[in-house]
Amino acid sequence: LDGPLLDRLGRPLTDLRISVTDRCNFRCSYCMPKEVFDKDHAYLPHSALLSFEEITRLARIFAAQGVRKIRLTGGEPLLRKNIEHLVEQLAALRTPEGAPLDLTLTTNGSLLARKARALKAAGLQRVTVSLDALDDAVFRRMNDMDFPVADVLAGIDAAHEAGLGPIKVNMVVKRGTNEQEILPMARHFRQAHGGGVVLRFIEYMDVGATNGWRMDEVLPSAEVVARIGAEFPLRPLDADSPGETAQRWAYADGSGEIGVISSVTRAFCSDCSRLRLSTEGKVYLCLFASQGHDLKALLRDGGSDAQLAGAIRGIWRRRGDRYSELRALQPADAAATPGARRVEMSYIGG
Ligand code: GTP
Ligand code: 5AD
Ligand code: SF4
Ligand code: SF4
Repeated sequence: LDGPLLDRLGRPLTDLRISVTDRCNFRCSYCMPKEVFDKDHAYLPHSALLSFEEITRLARIFAAQGVRKIRLTGGEPLLRKNIEHLVEQLAALRTPEGAPLDLTLTTNGSLLARKARALKAAGLQRVTVSLDALDDAVFRRMNDMDFPVADVLAGIDAAHEAGLGPIKVNMVVKRGTNEQEILPMARHFRQAHGGGVVLRFIEYMDVGATNGWRMDEVLPSAEVVARIGAEFPLRPLDADSPGETAQRWAYADGSGEIGVISSVTRAFCSDCSRLRLSTEGKVYLCLFASQGHDLKALLRDGGSDAQLAGAIRGIWRRRGDRYSELRALQPADAAATPGARRVEMSYIGG
């Protein structure tokens, strides 16, 4: 190791998000609209995917460079065959100090009831479940696959029983679509599992190039906090760690906490320590990037660990990405990178 690894804005690399598939069994309109992701859509062929051994080798190198937290994402990561085998390999990794990594996974919950126990047994520590509504009709419309909410709730219960907590639930809020679900979700999850579930509200983002994002469909987090606070008094909590996406709020009566992730109204790029590894082995330095940096060629052409570490360090040192901050300086509705076709979230992960 030659000194701490910092990017051009002085940000360390501590958080690695690994996408394990670009497929999903849902068609949330803000992420994989049906008109675009139809039966003719070209997903990655199997040969293009990094194998579990390749992913684990890269993860080990990242851990040696300062990564402390690994999140598996997709698409829907539980669609990747034998994903628990990858979890097992990643759970065995250690930091240079000998500690295990913080290992977690973001899922739509549809397969969780079936897989929670195997994931826990493989060494997964916790899960984050995406859930945009409690009302069955609203939920079926939002996932656009007529998938029932009861199955996701059963998945959350199974994860809790398997010991995959504290569980986080992420709700993307779209004005005019599911804003009426904010209070029912808050009421439900402050009761659920003895207050052990942390519900987080995410501002609808202009990620990708296909969701038809408009500023007037964003419901600012400040309004979410005001609506919940009117029914259940809230008080702000300090950040758990620098670079955190969510601002945390505690229920004043002690029944747990909520979070708000405000990438539109309150950008959090200034200490963004996240790097994303795509399913096919490209590194993305920002959720809103249009270009990745390929590692697969070096990986498959016999590159050594030292060469891979050098490539990663070089890529991170040149990083200056801060998309959400730049967009906040633009007029509403304008993108910060006009003309560039941004990568899709289903490809790069949440
Ligand atoms: P925890 O440590 O479990 O709290 O993870 P996290 O804060 O990274 O949260 P999570 O992975 O659940 O991310 C929640 C959501 O925040 C994602 O689905 C994205 O919508 C958004 N998000 C996460 N990371 C970024 C980021 O770097 N930039 C932006 N703009 N949004 C992000
Ligand atoms: N805006 C905000 N969050 C999004 N996600 C996907 N697309 C968007 C978007 N346009 C997030 C959701 C989901 C995770 C997998 O990705 O939080 O829970
Ligand atoms: Fe699938 Fe998650 Fe995207 Fe919805 S948000 S389409 S569940 S990857
Ligand atoms: Fe990080 Fe890019 Fe998100 Fe800013 S917009 S927080 S730089 S991923």
